[in-house]
Amino acid sequence: MKLPRGLYLHIPFCSIKCFYCDFTAFSGQNKTVARYLAALEKEASFFPDFNPDTLYIGGGTPSELSEEELQFLFKMIRSRFSKADFKEATFEANPESLNREKIKILKDSGVGRISLGLQTLEDRLLKSIGRRHSARDFLSVFSSLRRAGNFSISVDLMFGLPEQKLADHLRSLRQVLDLSPEHISLYGLQVEDWTLFSKKKINVDESLAREMFEASIEALKTAGFVHYEISNFALSGFESLHNRIYWRNGEYLGLGCGAASYLNGMRTMNEDRLIPYCAQIESGKRAISSEEKLEGIERLGEMAFLGLRMLEGYVPPPESSRVFAPQWNSLTSRGLIEKRGEAFRLTREGVFLANQVFMEFVSPFNQMSKSEALG
Ligand SMILES: C[S@@+](CC[C@H](N)C(=O)[O-])C[C@H]1O[C@@H](n2cnc3c(N)ncnc32)[C@H](O)[C@@H]1O
Ligand code: SF4
Repeated sequence: MKLPRGLYLHIPFCSIKCFYCDFTAFSGQNKTVARYLAALEKEASFFPDFNPDTLYIGGGTPSELSEEELQFLFKMIRSRFSKADFKEATFEANPESLNREKIKILKDSGVGRISLGLQTLEDRLLKSIGRRHSARDFLSVFSSLRRAGNFSISVDLMFGLPEQKLADHLRSLRQVLDLSPEHISLYGLQVEDWTLFSKKKINVDESLAREMFEASIEALKTAGFVHYEISNFALSGFESLHNRIYWRNGEYLGLGCGAASYLNGMRTMNEDRLIPYCAQIESGKRAISSEEKLEGIERLGEMAFLGLRMLEGYVPPPESSRVFAPQWNSLTSRGLIEKRGEAFRLTREGVFLANQVFMEFVSPFNQMSKSEALG
């Protein structure tokens, strides 16, 4: 079966840089937005034959765009990808910047899925991680989205935050479940280099974080959610089609500053500095900062660790079974993966130790850089 192809558009603007975040995201750059959107449009024109099946507008914070800027963005998508019939269109939003007018534009533009960044419903914790919104802002945006109708809503939550107790996290999770979202993404805090948390030498209490993750999995299961990917839970039929393309090693085009693409076996990364990205595109050139052809053992390894992220499991091609035979065998005997029919899948223990599992499929040459990429 042919996998769908994905289109990702990166909007790197945020009202403030959260203390834990190392995404390509800038605050205080309002005056560059128009220039950036024009660059995105020009970059899209470099791919006249790309015909995507899914659309994901992520960030950064896409909801930081004004109503006029959103209209420009969707007009650009309609004209540059006029043949596309999106099976799924997702838009990432933060509670402080989504309002009724923007929700209407999203609805009229065919967005059917909203990914709302919440992290926690405890106001004291929101403050301590640098978020701009309150729990109340989130609740108000959530009900506006429901009133507007027809959106499938995903909520991002984080656990393992400084000062966050198990009870804090479970209270947030239960309150979110009471709202009946269709999808929840649940991330354990990673202290990334160059973030404020890293400068402040914040440490994650790993055993408490694991307790939070385990309790969340149980609560989500009880609420009828399918744990379909390490960090992702959905009511049946609401799994993310776009992200599935990444995990199944399918093709995608990423446009914008810092965006990644995977096309014809080539992985490319765009320039992640805002002004150099715009300047490069304006001069009529692609703004690529690195590219590599994924082949041989590298490609097989990448397919394995991406595929294993999905809890339905991964069926390795015969070549992978041969080349990685010691890895498949050792991980099985250590109880981190199990075989069901032809598919290998993470065990419960393997879900918690997923990074250890994935490192087995990364060649020693690349381990340093890939371990960062695995998150
Ligand atoms: C693309 S990011 C940000 C989207 C949106 N701007 C927001 O803040 O909600 C998507 C999600 O990744 C998660 N995330 C970002 N940085 C993280 C980190 N250092 N550790 C764990 N999760 C993180 C957060 O849950 C965030 O909502
Ligand atoms: S977490 Fe979201 S809002 Fe915060 S800096 Fe990162 S991308 Fe921006």
